[in-house]
Amino acid sequence: MERTLILLKPDCVERRLIGRVLARFEDKGLGLVAMKMMRVTPALAKEHYAEHVSKPFYPALEKFITGAPVVAAVIEGLEAIRVVRDLLGATSGLKAVAGTIRGDFSSSRQMNLVHASDGPEAAAREIALYFKPNEICDYAPTITPWLRAPDEG
Ligand code: CMP
Repeated sequence: MERTLILLKPDCVERRLIGRVLARFEDKGLGLVAMKMMRVTPALAKEHYAEHVSKPFYPALEKFITGAPVVAAVIEGLEAIRVVRDLLGATSGLKAVAGTIRGDFSSSRQMNLVHASDGPEAAAREIALYFKPNEICDYAPTITPWLRAPDEG
């Protein structure tokens, strides 16, 4: 089992797409184990996007990500980090394949609706940035036997 952090970005919240986007993850069989609506502060943006802080697009990215509330969530599932990124599609909504979340709902590189951790180290770091351990709900969903065979994990 893997866990990954997603952020439904300000464009997703403002466009009233929270429910439709979360449904894509739930429809796939992934589970939510933590979720909250919040404002990203400039300080949190700099920590979250540490690898982008020196890039030319960072000031605009910070203005965007702090400009309206986000919904942060932790998603759990088999190979969840890759599966979630596959569901999102390419970074730019213009390049993302139709059928992916960005391919279906975004026409922008910056306003690409959802952030998702890009690997196990990023997932651990980002989950800890947004959630305290006691905000994550460990539970065994009763639907699991109808999502996959017992030998699949
Ligand atoms: P995300 O997956 O959250 O990771 C970094 C974010 O920076 C990315 O999604 C986009 O919102 C934004 N981004 C990435 N590349 C560019 C770019 N070249 N110009 C503007 N914004 C970008």
